[in-house]
Amino acid sequence: MDSPQPAQAGEKIIIAAVGENGVIGRDGNLPWDVAADRRLFRRLTLAHTVIMGRHTFASLGGPLDERLNLVVSRSLDSRPGITVCRGFSAALAQAEGAGRGIFFIGGAEIYRRALAVADRMILSRIPGKFSGDTFFPPFSSSDWRLVSEQDQGDFILQVYLAIRQPKS
Ligand SMILES: NC(=O)c1ccc[n+]([C@@H]2O[C@H](COP(=O)([O-])OP(=O)(O)OC[C@H]3O[C@@H](n4cnc5c(N)ncnc54)[C@H](OP(=O)(O)O)[C@@H]3O)[C@@H](O)[C@H]2O)c1
Repeated sequence: MDSPQPAQAGEKIIIAAVGENGVIGRDGNLPWDVAADRRLFRRLTLAHTVIMGRHTFASLGGPLDERLNLVVSRSLDSRPGITVCRGFSAALAQAEGAGRGIFFIGGAEIYRRALAVADRMILSRIPGKFSGDTFFPPFSSSDWRLVSEQDQGDFILQVYLAIRQPKS
């Protein structure tokens, strides 16, 4: 099965798993257990920078290994394995200085901010309508072009590229 292109240094990529009804989370965790998607996430993000919100960090149970972990939070303090950034822009600036690929890994507010700056978006579409409390933000087909869609067995893998509107 083809895999998405590896991240380039400085490339900004949204990566998310999304149910048919837009759900991404429930009670602080994922509403599904899809091992193949977890493997894909690990393979793509390894050795790069990951930017996440505080709840997402809490759901992981610790820093992601072999990645630069940036956690956006006004309340948390940095600790071994993570750097806390007080806002989205501060996290992005820090990531850009690191010279690796930059993955936005959730949750909802991080994705919402990332939609305005990311170059690429990798979505695992998980079949089924899930109950949940956290949703992927809406985005427009005038801003994002679907460039590939593959059946991976347990999910559909979609890759989108950002369409940059000329600034007037
Ligand atoms: N399906 C997927 O691919 C996927 C991916 C990631 C997460 N999830 C799920 O989504 C849920 C967690 O997402 P969530 O949306 O509830 O929370 P989240 O974005 O992970 O964390 C929210 C917290 O991050 C901080 N934060 C976010 N944006 C900020 C900003 N611009 N400036 C400063 N701080 C900011 C705040 O922390 P402070 O309160 O400390 O200031 C905020 O309370 C879980 O259920 C998780 O499992 C799913």
